[in-house]
Amino acid sequence: MCGIVGAVSTRNIVPVLVQGLERLEYRGYDSCGVAVYAQDSQPGLRRARSTSRVAELVEQVATGQLQGRLGIAHTRWATHGAPVVHNAHPHFSHGPGADAAARVGRVALVHNGIIENHDELRAALKSKGYVFHSQTDTEVIAHLIDSLYDGDLFEAVKATVLQLHGAYAIAVFCKDEPHRLIGARAGSPLILGVGKDGQEHFLASDAMALAGVTDQIVYLEEGDVVDVQLGKYWLIDKVHKAVASAQRPVKTVHAHSGAAELGPYRHYMQKEIFEQPRAIADTLEGVEGIVPELFDQQGNHAPGANAARVFQQIDSVLILACGTSYYSGCTAKYWIESIAKVPCSVEVASEYRYRDSVPNPNTLVVTITQSGETADTLAALRHAKGLGMQHTLTICNVATSAMVRECSLAYVTRAGVEIGVASTKAFTTQLAGLFLLTLCLAQAKGRLSDADEARHLKAMRHLPAALQAVLALEPQVIAWAEDFAKKENALFLGRGLHYPIAMEGALKLKEITYIHAEAYPAGELKHGPLAPVTSEMPVVTVAPNDALLEKLKSNLHEVRARGGVLYVLADADTRIDSGEGLHVIRMPEHYGELSPLLHVVPLQLLAYHTACARGTDVDKPRNLAKSVTVE
Ligand code: M6R
Repeated sequence: MCGIVGAVSTRNIVPVLVQGLERLEYRGYDSCGVAVYAQDSQPGLRRARSTSRVAELVEQVATGQLQGRLGIAHTRWATHGAPVVHNAHPHFSHGPGADAAARVGRVALVHNGIIENHDELRAALKSKGYVFHSQTDTEVIAHLIDSLYDGDLFEAVKATVLQLHGAYAIAVFCKDEPHRLIGARAGSPLILGVGKDGQEHFLASDAMALAGVTDQIVYLEEGDVVDVQLGKYWLIDKVHKAVASAQRPVKTVHAHSGAAELGPYRHYMQKEIFEQPRAIADTLEGVEGIVPELFDQQGNHAPGANAARVFQQIDSVLILACGTSYYSGCTAKYWIESIAKVPCSVEVASEYRYRDSVPNPNTLVVTITQSGETADTLAALRHAKGLGMQHTLTICNVATSAMVRECSLAYVTRAGVEIGVASTKAFTTQLAGLFLLTLCLAQAKGRLSDADEARHLKAMRHLPAALQAVLALEPQVIAWAEDFAKKENALFLGRGLHYPIAMEGALKLKEITYIHAEAYPAGELKHGPLAPVTSEMPVVTVAPNDALLEKLKSNLHEVRARGGVLYVLADADTRIDSGEGLHVIRMPEHYGELSPLLHVVPLQLLAYHTACARGTDVDKPRNLAKSVTVE
């Protein structure tokens, strides 16, 4: 989704800005741009914008010899206004009045987030004579800052943010103060990077944008406004009180450059699917036994907030997440209720944050997020805390993310950077973390025997090898994908613990192939979804050898009786065999409670190879972004 990089330096910072954009590319965007204060024969603001890739922007910058020591850059994922050049950031203000000519391009600004009151602000600015050149909510902020500017950009931004409703992270500079970069955030992340010798400074939406430039990072908090200059910076908080440096310490952050090599793979998604044995091994590394301390955050939680005490105290679990992370939460609900016997509910974060619910202060609120920056999940967490639920835990793949910082307890998965928009290795590592959480809760409630603990740990340690065996099924999945590539609809069925896996399989297929796919619990078939089933609508079924197998077999007969064509992932010991209209891929023997981690893999491969056959942009599917940092 949108990304920000900004810099003030004594050197030409354009290469740093565009490299930062390249590092943020994987998050998804539909246009990009860079603006600098040029100190040439005609000093002033200059910019280049593109609706193509960052590589094209780099060419423009080289051709136009764009250079400057102060600048901002952006990748945009369109919300307000189409992805066309005039909507791409940075936006410049165009002041009205007698000195209008002098004020053309006075303020340059980039913005992540959504300004909810942009209509009324635009109307007020238009009445003052401001002319708008884009359909974005962002241009409103640039004009508003210009209208409030009286020689001090920091003061103008302070006054501006008081009028903004919604979410924003902004980086802004003004041609009248070419030594100064101002940042502000509320609802969208923004960090400050301290560069060489503390002289040059940077702003970015993500530490990854600054990988290789600086690892000295200050995380700005909600409502902060920062004044960034050469050799110095200072901050005010949400009530505009000066913030001491100890309150926003500089942290050393080893952000991955994101420029992961593809190696022998065609796409990042394929690479990430095949990385799962390693990702699970890394995520479980060092787990010698089931101990609550696995979820404690070193030096980053409120006094007394430790997992051992919290797990004893809570009487229910509420899981909040979006997309694929939501489906890992749905899987965990089955585990938490059947193994730990703790009541568990799972909610889509964007729904939970806006509905009236009945808070229980003894609930453990668990957020699940690959990025740790998903706006809806962060807002849902804050909503839950606001309702008095203070026991918070996250399963997250980014140790430095806002989510990890805002939760008392955390399990940081070690999937490594996930570049493909379609989440794969993040999902299975989330499941590994959630299974550990289940076992810790069961232990805290006196429901985990030593024998069961040993059995579960043994199964978890064997997961990398079991995943490797499933990945070896790829050629059989490719044969299925050739059939799927010709279809426009697909139905996914699962039961119990594997119903969320069917949902995840359907999401993967629709995300990257654009085939309409939906998932149902197989028992629901005759209550509706059986109606559209024909030979043109493949029915994928997840068939583990569990307590529901015989019931599932009856559901398969219902499909075959209507001429439906079945594609079944059957555990080796299920005795379901291929036949007329029935295609079976034989999975390993049933893997007990951890079976969902194995059954999801062929579904990931099915989506991947179907997308390849259809020629879609696998890693950057249309309309989607990797990190959904706006509502
Ligand atoms: O970073 P998060 O896990 O919070 O992201 C949540 C969803 O946006 C994400 O899982 C999305 O559904 C993926 N594209 C699914 O493949």
